[in-house]
Amino acid sequence: MLYQLSYDPLCVPQRTASDRMPGVHRVRQRLLKANEGRVYVVRGRSSNRKCRPAPARWKIAWPGPGSGRLFKGSTGPVQSVKPACPARSGSETMDGMSAATPPTERRVSARIGAISESATLAVDAKAKALKAAGRPVIGFGAGEPDFPTPDYIVEAAIEACKNPKFHRYTPAGGLPELKSAIAAKTLRDSGWEPDVSQILVTNGGKQAIYEAFAAILDPGDEVIVPAPYWTTYPESIRLAGGVPVEVVADETTGYRVTVEQLEAARTEKTKVVLFVSPSNPTGAVYSEAETEAIGRWALEHGLWVLTDEIYEHLVYGDAVSVSLPALLPELRDKCVVVNGVAKTYAMTGWRVGWVIGPKDVVKAATNLQSHATSNVSNVSQAAALAAVSGGLEAVAKMREAFDRRRKTIVRMLNEIDGVLCPEPEGAFYAYPSVKALIGKEIRGKRPQNTVELAALILEEAEVAVVPGEAFGTPGYLRLSYALGDEDLVEGVSRIQKLLAEARD
Ligand SMILES: Cc1ncc(COP(=O)(O)O)c(C=O)c1O
Repeated sequence: MLYQLSYDPLCVPQRTASDRMPGVHRVRQRLLKANEGRVYVVRGRSSNRKCRPAPARWKIAWPGPGSGRLFKGSTGPVQSVKPACPARSGSETMDGMSAATPPTERRVSARIGAISESATLAVDAKAKALKAAGRPVIGFGAGEPDFPTPDYIVEAAIEACKNPKFHRYTPAGGLPELKSAIAAKTLRDSGWEPDVSQILVTNGGKQAIYEAFAAILDPGDEVIVPAPYWTTYPESIRLAGGVPVEVVADETTGYRVTVEQLEAARTEKTKVVLFVSPSNPTGAVYSEAETEAIGRWALEHGLWVLTDEIYEHLVYGDAVSVSLPALLPELRDKCVVVNGVAKTYAMTGWRVGWVIGPKDVVKAATNLQSHATSNVSNVSQAAALAAVSGGLEAVAKMREAFDRRRKTIVRMLNEIDGVLCPEPEGAFYAYPSVKALIGKEIRGKRPQNTVELAALILEEAEVAVVPGEAFGTPGYLRLSYALGDEDLVEGVSRIQKLLAEARD
């Protein structure tokens, strides 16, 4: 029998291990791992450890310095109290390691130990590992285009490799020529032109998000995060000392939050509202009127806006990407834009993103970067320069393919009983609700949540999808449709076949 682990650093046992289990403590029974919500007992030396599930009658306690022990408790199973770090949804169920570490034994700091592995990267890694082991796994986990980076961009990188100028350190905040090109590109694509002093070139959009939050937030500042959210946002906010406050929008509103919902979440500690359109994981795109309403509400209350525009060029049908600082110039003084080359130019591995914001914030973030990582790889910056100063033909071709796949995946998912998939208007993700399938019997198992359902789909259909828990909303699955058309059809067919077996 397995138990969900909750961990309370203040939970003190009544007895020591040796009181209750003479002799047994010598075998060094230790709690090592609380993974996927399960408690394991580990026996033996580190070189010869064996894991098995904790028996029902055992209870966890942290007796004091130097040890975290499992007790053979007489009163009930595993203790269940609040975790040391703020509860994380989704990603926590995928990696509970940090929560299981007693403070007295902490080797990793509480701040960093509280960060869990990116659930989306974990799913992708698992799918790739199974594939490498010979299983015919089809992965819908990765948030990256399946196309190669366009040739002219790769050529620019090859040239940069040969140029000794790029063998040296360059300004921490980015190559001046790349900053100028980003300013010009922002004018072309968004309709406003920032000064180069408002731009910081980062190691991908992820670093841009982290540095932006680090530059704006003080401990305790609240950030309103519309959910389903991209799994990195709450972690970056917490790392910067902030407090993510979720506002959930479901499929009935196309996963778009309203000003009324945002207002209900606002407190005197609210400093920032996060805005992302098109969205990962839902593909939702806000209309111009909705975007303006949110921007005006932020202005009215003196809030900062962090707007993530990384999917700006991936919109379908009548949807349009609207850039808040272009729409509401009066917001620019408290608006930070995050963007990058990863999704538009199929450059996820090159790691180039940027922050555009008010000068003081950009300067502060640049100072942080100057100590953390210095300049982004010059070769990657040269590639990004070719990307942003070139045309948009390559992304137009990719968009065409994504649009075709989007229609196929939405149709096929909606053919499954118990699956409801609204049409995403942007990015390359479908986010179906599968709430109706939770608790149903499928091949002898009854998944109780979407983590379990995703595990079942991987095991039985050999298809990798990301559970909604990773995005703050259990009951959903995220499928990236940035994979080949044939694989897409084969993968969703396998899911269809498996889920058709669902019984009450
Ligand atoms: C919404 C969103 N923002 C930012 C990023 C960061 O992209 P990168 O760090 O690869 O530039 C991603 C990546 O998946 C994303 O989905």
